[in-house]
Amino acid sequence: MTLILKNIHKLYRVAQQGERFKTGAAMSDAVCLEQAWLAVEAGRITAFGQMDAFPHEAYAGAETIDCTGKLVMPGFVDSHTHLVFPKTREQEFVYRLQGISYEEIAKRGGGILNSAKATQQISEEQLLAETLERAREIISLGTTTVEIKSGYGLTLDSELKLLRVAKKVQQEMPLRVKTTFLGAHAIPVEWQSNRQGYIDLVCEEMLPQVIEEGLADYIDVFCDTGFFTVEETEYILQKGLDAGLPAKIHANELDFSGGVQVGVKMGAYSVDHLERSGPDEIEALKGSETVPTLLPSVAFFLGIDYGPARGMIEAELPLALATDYNPGSSPGGSMPFVMSLACLGMRMLPEEALVASTLNAAFSMRMSEEIGSIEVGKYADLVITRPMDQLARIPYSYAQNPVETTIINGKVVHTTR
Ligand code: NIG
Ligand code: FE
Repeated sequence: MTLILKNIHKLYRVAQQGERFKTGAAMSDAVCLEQAWLAVEAGRITAFGQMDAFPHEAYAGAETIDCTGKLVMPGFVDSHTHLVFPKTREQEFVYRLQGISYEEIAKRGGGILNSAKATQQISEEQLLAETLERAREIISLGTTTVEIKSGYGLTLDSELKLLRVAKKVQQEMPLRVKTTFLGAHAIPVEWQSNRQGYIDLVCEEMLPQVIEEGLADYIDVFCDTGFFTVEETEYILQKGLDAGLPAKIHANELDFSGGVQVGVKMGAYSVDHLERSGPDEIEALKGSETVPTLLPSVAFFLGIDYGPARGMIEAELPLALATDYNPGSSPGGSMPFVMSLACLGMRMLPEEALVASTLNAAFSMRMSEEIGSIEVGKYADLVITRPMDQLARIPYSYAQNPVETTIINGKVVHTTR
């Protein structure tokens, strides 16, 4: 089956053939083709070009979507989420409005531990139902690949429950899903006087079971003040690596935690958050292939500083963006809104935000040979926008959903047409 997108007002390819990621000045070039067409066969992009050279005869009779006045770009790659969670936490939002800090709420048993309690109580079926609703929502916002973490379980059974649900999302939805084991998200109350005991539970009981059931692609640790130390992080990541799981970690959200440095040392695919980072962290990342992933909706929602995106781009780092969709620090999964915040909060250009939300995010999961740009041979994971003139309209119209149609594997999985 062939699918043709024709009369595309602007086709943002994001990359030329074969780039694994983009850095520096290249990030502001989204490789835009005007008046374009695109062909998809067997789920893959097979050809594209400009309308004045459209091979009408070759594609006679093919299913066609007319994209007059619309933009086409790669589907968004949301490389950091906690999509599987039992319930929202708006009461903590109210506490913060009353002046209690995020850290203080966590110390009082709110935060991650609050979600962990609820995860232990909810059935796998109910958890799946809640998660599928969010999966549908993010597809309608143009996300075509999503990374999903555990970390709201903190017991063997609950961590497995979260990862099994994440895997079911992959089976039941057209979405491309990768999963991450985040048993080391917080120390549960009952382990607080025996941290190593909990770490042993993560490494010696949870991790082997996760591997046995094939439930995770990556391992994560929340390396920050009040959570896991640099030494603990290194210990856990090494266990993960030994079991075949590369790292994507939470670092430097609350403090200059050393998380970036330990991530680089351990060859992490990405270090995420980085709100608290400066020249030392940028220096540590230089020359590595560890992707700094900024999550500007966390800065927006918690009212903390945004990460230093401009410094990272100047330093030629392969900067990525993600939503961190979770009930505590980013209760939303809109990549278009993240692009707005990247522009408004971190002075990224729309093209840079697109590259960071597609190709570089794919590279942060080492998937950029298959997705993240419009190149012949890659999966046909695409977004068709509503009618608009240029890319900047996406971050500009921050409260609108710019997505009209989402295509995954060459199939229309959402459309408002
Ligand atoms: O990525 N920072 C650590 N974990 C999550 C949020 C945790 C929560 O508040 O539920 C995050 O921001
Ligand atoms: Fe997170």
